[in-house]
Amino acid sequence: MAEIKHTVVLGITGSIAAYKGADLCSKLTQAGFDVNVIMTASAQELVRPRTFLTLSRNPVMTDLWSVPDWRPGHIELSERASILVIAPATANIIGKLACGIADDALSTFALSHQGALLIAPGMNPRMWANPAVQENVEKLKRRGAVFAGPASGRVACGADGDGRMAEVDVIMQQVMKILN
Ligand SMILES: Cc1cc2nc3c(=O)[nH]c(=O)nc-3n(C[C@H](O)[C@H](O)[C@H](O)COP(=O)(O)O)c2cc1C
Repeated sequence: MAEIKHTVVLGITGSIAAYKGADLCSKLTQAGFDVNVIMTASAQELVRPRTFLTLSRNPVMTDLWSVPDWRPGHIELSERASILVIAPATANIIGKLACGIADDALSTFALSHQGALLIAPGMNPRMWANPAVQENVEKLKRRGAVFAGPASGRVACGADGDGRMAEVDVIMQQVMKILN
């Protein structure tokens, strides 16, 4: 039987760990997945879409309105995506997913997506510890979302604690586990 080439949608949000998303994108492509990247506006302040275009070898969705297809891009993608991986995931996108908000390409895609959802949070430990964030995480877990990390350690702003994005290899292992 022919091997299924899974479509992986990689969501990149405005966490300082967005640059690590490029490494994840590269590893997913090298593993043979059809990788389609959606970037939030904040993510594009930190890393340029062209990095992901080159690494994924697919167009990068940067906003809802720029796809020149008769079908909205998020719907077309949701018809073939096996998994949505959001790495790094900001406190903001976690809150939006928990509340069902669809106000940009990534959150709108997430609402139309029916496959697996893997979230790798990356944020300052004080943000991660915030009860609003923790309640949103619990809500998403109850709905079946899988979380990779966050890890403990030093974050970019110098603080120590839980909030570092999980290592890319750990996220890769989770993707493989979910898709196998
Ligand atoms: C330099 C910089 C780094 C940031 N890093 C993080 C971060 O690691 N995690 C986080 O949750 N928010 C971080 N933020 C805040 C988010 O970018 C902000 O909440 C934004 O609205 C997130 O939008 P998005 O979820 O649509 O990408 C950072 C902001 C700046 C200016």
